[in-house]
Amino acid sequence: MPAITCSAPGKIILCGEHAAVYGSPAIAIPVFDVKTKCTIIARPTACTDDPLIVAPDIALRCHLTCLVENHPIRMVVKLVLDRFKLDHLPVCEIQIHSTLPTAAGMGSSASTAVALIRALSTFLGHPFENEVVNELAFEIEKIHHGSPSGIDNSVITYQKCLYFIKGQPFQLLEPKATFTLVIADSGIKSTTARVVEQVRLSYQDNKPAFEQYFSEIGNVSDQIRKDLILGNISDIGTLMTKNHKLLQTIGVSCEKLDTLVACALDAGSLGAKLSGGGKGGNMIALVNDETADTIADKLRSCGAVNTIIIRVPTGG
Ligand code: MEV
Repeated sequence: MPAITCSAPGKIILCGEHAAVYGSPAIAIPVFDVKTKCTIIARPTACTDDPLIVAPDIALRCHLTCLVENHPIRMVVKLVLDRFKLDHLPVCEIQIHSTLPTAAGMGSSASTAVALIRALSTFLGHPFENEVVNELAFEIEKIHHGSPSGIDNSVITYQKCLYFIKGQPFQLLEPKATFTLVIADSGIKSTTARVVEQVRLSYQDNKPAFEQYFSEIGNVSDQIRKDLILGNISDIGTLMTKNHKLLQTIGVSCEKLDTLVACALDAGSLGAKLSGGGKGGNMIALVNDETADTIADKLRSCGAVNTIIIRVPTGG
C-alpha cells in the first residue's frame, strides 16, 4: 500500500478574535506558506500493532498508546476510528511534519488535526468530506482550547477566507480586490487556551464593559467584511488598528506586539493588529504591495523573529 500524505495550511485572524468566542463575527484567512503534512505508511511487518507516531517538530517519537488518553493525536485517531466503527488501525507509522510555529496564533493545533484526520480517513479507504473533517477537528480544538469558537478548524478545513459567527454556518468571503499582509512573529510563545481563559475571567468580572468591547469588535468585523466585498482595501487598515486597540483594552496584547504594531504603522502600513490568541504569537500588517518587503524588514529590525508576506487573492 502506498504512503498516504495529506496537508493543511495555517491561518490568521483578520479581525474579531476573542469576541468570536462570545458570538461576535470574525474573519479568518488561510495561510498556505506554512503547513502541516501528515504521512501514513503501512508497516505490515512491524513487531507491534501499536502505530508509531513520529513528529520531530514537537520532539515526539513513540507508540500511540504511550500518549496520554486525551492527547490530541490519540484523540484524533480515536474519533476517526469511531466514525469507521473500528477499534484499531492497520499497523502503520504516522509521520507529522509542520512548518507552523506552535503557540503563535497561526492555528498549529487545528492544522495538525485537519491534516491527520484527512490522512487517517484516506488511509482507511474513505476520505472524509470537509464537513466531517471540520466537525472532528472542532472536537479536538475543544481539548486544546476549552471553549473555542470553531473559527480555526473551519478556516483550515475549508482553506478559504471566512466570515464566521460561532454556532452559525460560516460564509465564504470573496474579496473584490487582492490585498497584501505582512505577518510578523513576536517570538513569544503563548497558548490560546490560557488567553481565552484570562478573557473569560475578566468578562465575568465586568460583563457590561466586555459585552460592549465584543460588540465594538463585531462592528469592526462587519465593516471589514463590507469593505472586502466592495474592494475598499485602504479602509480596512484603520479598522484593523481600531481592532488592535480594542484587543489591548481587553488585555490580550503585550509590549512586544504593541511595539511591532507601532513599528508597522511607522513604516507606512495601512493598519496593524495582533492576530489570534495574543499575549505573544503573531501580528499582521496591511501593506501596499510595493512596500511589503520594506515593512517586513522593518518589523524584523523591531524584533520580529520571522515575517511572512501573503497576497490574499480576489475570490478568497
Ligand atoms: C484563535 O485563533 C481565535 C480566538 O478567538 C479563539 C477562538 O475563537 O476559538 C482567540
